[in-house]
Amino acid sequence: MQGCAPLKKVHEVFALLYGLFQFLQERYVRETTRRRIFAVLLAGPLAFAIAGCDDDGPQAQRVAGGDVERGKRLLAQFQCGACHSIPGVEAARSTAGPPLDTFGRQSYVAGHLPNYPESLVRWIVDPPAVKPGTPMPNLGVSPEDARHMAAYLYTLR
Ligand code: HEC
Repeated sequence: MQGCAPLKKVHEVFALLYGLFQFLQERYVRETTRRRIFAVLLAGPLAFAIAGCDDDGPQAQRVAGGDVERGKRLLAQFQCGACHSIPGVEAARSTAGPPLDTFGRQSYVAGHLPNYPESLVRWIVDPPAVKPGTPMPNLGVSPEDARHMAAYLYTLR
């Protein structure tokens, strides 16, 4: 649900403004009523919208066509664990590459791309095409297999 990300930003901005509001309210009590009405008007619909948004940002992704269990097997088959630690994947404890233990919570892929399914799939298929000079090699993973792997990686939180 990528659509939720901008909403979260709005929410953050709003939370900040609201904090400021409360501060002002304490200082200048007279305008309280008007400010309260304004706050309620804004907070109501926003809270609704956010409650209906059942993920927490760009990290909690569902990968269309991605099968978590298959992804887990593929991560083992392609030996991603030769360079990464990946919880749940056998023998994946290397520290040559960054640990993927909480990959589902990360905001970026390789510090470079915003962490969305499409960018993660592109990365797994051909890292040097995405980030020239990266030490992660192209391992010949098909886009389909990469989708399954991505589905598994997003479960790591
Ligand atoms: C030869 C070692 C090596 C292998 C094998 C390898 N990787 Fe990597 N991987 C790396 C390195 C090094 C990085 C960091 C790249 C960078 O930041 O430029 C990386 C980065 C990543 C990232 C981004 C991590 C982050 O913290 O942003 C993901 C996701 C990833 N690899 C997935 C995989 C998958 C899936 C496989 C198996 C198909 C795999 N890697 C196989 C070395 C490897």
